[in-house]
Amino acid sequence: MEIKEQINREKLPGHVAVIMDGNGRWARKQGFARIKGHEKGVGAVRDTVEAAAELGIRYLTLFAFSTENWNRPKYEIDALMKLLVESIHNEMKTLMDNNIRLATIGDLQSLPSKSQQELKKAMDTTSGNTGLTLVLALSYSSRWEIVEACRKIAETVQKGEMKPEEIDVHSFTAGLTTVGIPDPELLIRTSGEYRISNFLLWQIAYTELYFTPTLWPDFNKEEFFRAILDFQNRERRFGLTSEQITKVESAKKKRTQ
Ligand code: IPE
Ligand code: IPE
Ligand code: MG
Repeated sequence: MEIKEQINREKLPGHVAVIMDGNGRWARKQGFARIKGHEKGVGAVRDTVEAAAELGIRYLTLFAFSTENWNRPKYEIDALMKLLVESIHNEMKTLMDNNIRLATIGDLQSLPSKSQQELKKAMDTTSGNTGLTLVLALSYSSRWEIVEACRKIAETVQKGEMKPEEIDVHSFTAGLTTVGIPDPELLIRTSGEYRISNFLLWQIAYTELYFTPTLWPDFNKEEFFRAILDFQNRERRFGLTSEQITKVESAKKKRTQ
């Protein structure tokens, strides 16, 4: 049976996040410049977005450029920003055809104005779409986001609009750039690195992690489906015992029968 057919459509992760890593190593292995890897990576993005949309996943967040990536050589940054603008422009039809809404997280103001304009246009055009929400993390880092959220809360308290004792998980979450987006249930990282690299640290408290040695330009629909299948075979306990989880699950099943 094909991998896709083995996926239980009733047990899909509501939100999948991906750290797309390994473009540079892919290019080096083929004897190309790093930029070629980024260019080839665009194809893997298209495949992944289509795979998520085909399954009916609600949210897909892709880590495209981190705060720390600003420290890369200027020509690489310029090439990545150019690629971003071109890809969004070229993929508009795919987004519209597949009912996909584009959203972003990160410090967008730090992007070149051309990139900001293209992103805004794409977000406006797709804002009425009701299928998958594709979230691009751009100039994003989790520590930046958490510090920003703290600043917002401090200002609210300073203005007397909130008491320190009213700060809780809920009010804190409201200050993050991911406000309104459910926490990821599955996080995929490619290229065989076992780290998070400052991505969604707050939001992945109970996320299932999936690591694959595949370099990002080689990632495809089948790999995505395999990660979903792996996720579906895990028991998520959220601090409870396995017996408690089984009880909750069977009560849920009875209710829907
Ligand atoms: C991921 O690939 C793309 C970005 C971080 C922008 P890399 O460019 O990090 O590729 P490697 O990790 O050097 O192979
Ligand atoms: C993480 O990849 C950032 C993105 C995928 C955009 P990096 O290549 O920047 O991460 P490190 O440096 O290997 O931790
Ligand atoms: Mg990398």
